Amino acid sequence: MYSEKVMEHFANPRNVGEIPDANAVGQVGNAKCGDIMKMYMKIEDNVIKDVKFKTFGCGAAIATSSMATEMVKGKTVDEALQLTNKAVMEALDGLPKEKIHCSVLAEEAIQSAINDYRRRNGEDVPEDKEYTCEH
Ligand code: FES
Repeated sequence: MYSEKVMEHFANPRNVGEIPDANAVGQVGNAKCGDIMKMYMKIEDNVIKDVKFKTFGCGAAIATSSMATEMVKGKTVDEALQLTNKAVMEALDGLPKEKIHCSVLAEEAIQSAINDYRRRNGEDVPEDKEYTCEH
């Protein structure tokens, strides 16, 4: 059901934990399955120097968070905002159809953290939109 890459990232997730002096923190939740993802970033000069996450959720959510954090590390905030759940899924060699929504959690958590960073820097960023999952 799952690709080898998904299983590998699920078994050995990268960048798990918290960053005590993070200057960007985002959290998104899924009202239906109750899964929550929290993302911490250390951003300097608009570059994501470090990123960590905590996911209280399913294996697909953990694997996509792991891959997504690997993909945004070292990127500028603008580049990170371009990251889609589709790109993360492709990097993981796909997800079963009924698990696609789980990958949205990672994309939204990155956006939520960057929005937090921008608000802290005085930018006028709208409130995060509510994430709703379709299962
Ligand atoms: Fe909730 Fe996967 S089942 S995020």
